[in-house]
Amino acid sequence: MDTDNQSLMDNGSLFLPESLSTFSQDVDFLFYAIFVLSIVLSIMMFGVMFYFLFKYRRTKMNQKAAKQVIDNHMLEFLWSFIPLVIVMVIFFWGWKDYLILSIAPENAMEIRVTGQKWYWSFYYPQTGAESTTDLYVPVGEPVKLVMSSKDVLHSVFIPNFRVKKDVVPNYYTNLWFEATEVGSYQLFCAEYCGDAHSTMLGNVHVLSRSDFDQKMKELSFGDDLPLDVLGAKLYKKHGCFGCHSVDGSVVVGPSWKGLYGSARQFSDGASIEADDNYLRESIVNPAKRIVNGYSNVMNSYAGLLEDREMDAIIEYIKTLK
Ligand code: CUA
Repeated sequence: MDTDNQSLMDNGSLFLPESLSTFSQDVDFLFYAIFVLSIVLSIMMFGVMFYFLFKYRRTKMNQKAAKQVIDNHMLEFLWSFIPLVIVMVIFFWGWKDYLILSIAPENAMEIRVTGQKWYWSFYYPQTGAESTTDLYVPVGEPVKLVMSSKDVLHSVFIPNFRVKKDVVPNYYTNLWFEATEVGSYQLFCAEYCGDAHSTMLGNVHVLSRSDFDQKMKELSFGDDLPLDVLGAKLYKKHGCFGCHSVDGSVVVGPSWKGLYGSARQFSDGASIEADDNYLRESIVNPAKRIVNGYSNVMNSYAGLLEDREMDAIIEYIKTLK
């Protein structure tokens, strides 16, 4: 993950982070209009309340209460009609902006987004490129995200672009934006989705057109890739990093660093040297032998990897000495 993400407060205000998409200004304008209106109305209401408190306070013992006003049709009409006008203006204003936010321009570039516990993956249909955690988009071009979930409800939230949309299993939701400035911005999962919800972060990298095209080439899965390079890509693509580190640290499962050729101690007391067949078995049938100190939580990847991909992951593990 990049560490150069802009802080949410950079160039933003106390209430909103920096505004970096074509319609984020409109969202902000509506937000501040409602915010200022709320403050003005609150001051008016409390002003009248304190004025009456003072005016009708009891000043001497045995003072009679002021006479109740029973009917005042003009007053009743005004306190119904004026708020109605205010909320209808807010409604149509918000509705107009909501339509703009909901309907992507015809020429928007589509990117497929998959949410799953607990990472994001992105597929770029025009180029066949794939990326995980990091979303790459060109600057100054409309981008449409077509989103779905593999398991539970997630939600894509990119504060700088003022966009947020739920990501639902067995259903596609859309979201679009046009980024106005090159840079890296935070993407959050904004729907509680289980243990690691708070770490289900992503980065949106807004690149120039030429940098974007270059990135697409890097992220494509060509047949001519060396096996270990393909393996490193698959490690990201399939989210293996969620449980297996490549630097020796323990996440959920054993690290892949130094794994190949090492002695494995199993919970049933047996022991074996990690060779190609052991690695293959651990991917296809992970429950068969559990390494001491770890839990049986991994799903089988049988049928999910082609033979070449299986080889690639094993070759990649071999390079992690
Ligand atoms: Cu995914 Cu919260």
